[in-house]
Amino acid sequence: MEFSKIFTICFSVLLLCSSLAYGQARSPPAPVAMSPTPTPAPAPAPPYVNLTYLLSVAGPFHTFLDYLESTKVIDTFQNQANNTDQGITVFVPKDSAFKDLRKPSFSNLSDDQLKSLILYHALPRFYTLADFNELSTKGSISTLAGGEYTLNFTYDSGTVHLDSGWSKTKVTSAVHSTDPVAIYQVDKVLLPEAIFGTDIPPTPAPSPAPVPDVSPAADSPSAESKESGSSPKSAPSTSSSNSIMNLCIWRQLVLAVSAGVVLFF
Ligand SMILES: *[C@@H]1O[C@H](CO)[C@@H](O)[C@H](O)[C@H]1NC(C)=O
Ligand SMILES: *[C@@H]1O[C@H](CO)[C@@H](O)[C@H](O)[C@H]1NC(C)=O
Ligand SMILES: *[C@@H]1O[C@H](CO)[C@@H](O)[C@H](O)[C@H]1NC(C)=O
Ligand SMILES: *[C@@H]1O[C@H](CO)[C@@H](O)[C@H](O)[C@H]1NC(C)=O
Repeated sequence: MEFSKIFTICFSVLLLCSSLAYGQARSPPAPVAMSPTPTPAPAPAPPYVNLTYLLSVAGPFHTFLDYLESTKVIDTFQNQANNTDQGITVFVPKDSAFKDLRKPSFSNLSDDQLKSLILYHALPRFYTLADFNELSTKGSISTLAGGEYTLNFTYDSGTVHLDSGWSKTKVTSAVHSTDPVAIYQVDKVLLPEAIFGTDIPPTPAPSPAPVPDVSPAADSPSAESKESGSSPKSAPSTSSSNSIMNLCIWRQLVLAVSAGVVLFF
């Protein structure tokens, strides 16, 4: 009677342990599939991303945010984020980019032109940084401003470069990149040929280009590690889900053992 009870408990603990061990042994390949994340098919609406809030706490992007609000383009962006399956990708110049802007000034733009210029900073679709590898092969990409307001991209070992004709810049950090909203910081205000014409003056500052070359040892590794840190973001989440799994297994094990102890006495 007693023996059979003990035997049953031992057997069930053993069974539990072996099934847990099996689960753990099987777990390493599992993260690739990322079982909890991939397709929550019956997903309700995607979580609401407040663009105004995001842009007000990151950056500083106050100048761009002021333009977004004064032109009401913020509503267009937020609507694209809220209500479309495609989502949105926004390229946000830092405040310093607007300060650096000298030659073509915004002062004599019409309201419509200013609105188009701000709309020009977004694509009507969510793109991860890696997606730009493919986009770079497609030539002119339409922006939310439509029509001839297009941007060209190049993708160079993880770095996304943008070319508007007037502005050649690159993505310097990912502020937010979760479907359906991507917000990437850029070094320059994007000036469209559709407003400023194709008569682009030769860049008066070819000197900044050699600067990174002067100290490649100091500059490029940090820039590269920053970029590589931001793009394969699945890696950290995988490891964290792994550790959460391990934690669960531990808790189950402790529970099982303590239950066994309680039954024994
Ligand atoms: C979005 O964030 C802004 C700035 O924090 C806030 O004023 C606004 O009420 C928020 N909108 C919604 C709908 O939560
Ligand atoms: C976006 O969704 C939020 C939360 O549901 C809502 O408060 C806001 O008014 C919506 N904005 C637009 C432009 O659809
Ligand atoms: C803005 O005004 C300047 C002179 O005041 C003129 O040369 C320039 O073409 C104007 N730019 C636009 C976009 O109208
Ligand atoms: C963008 O790409 C198209 C197609 O390749 C090309 O015709 C155009 O000149 C490019 N524009 C810029 C600003 O590089």
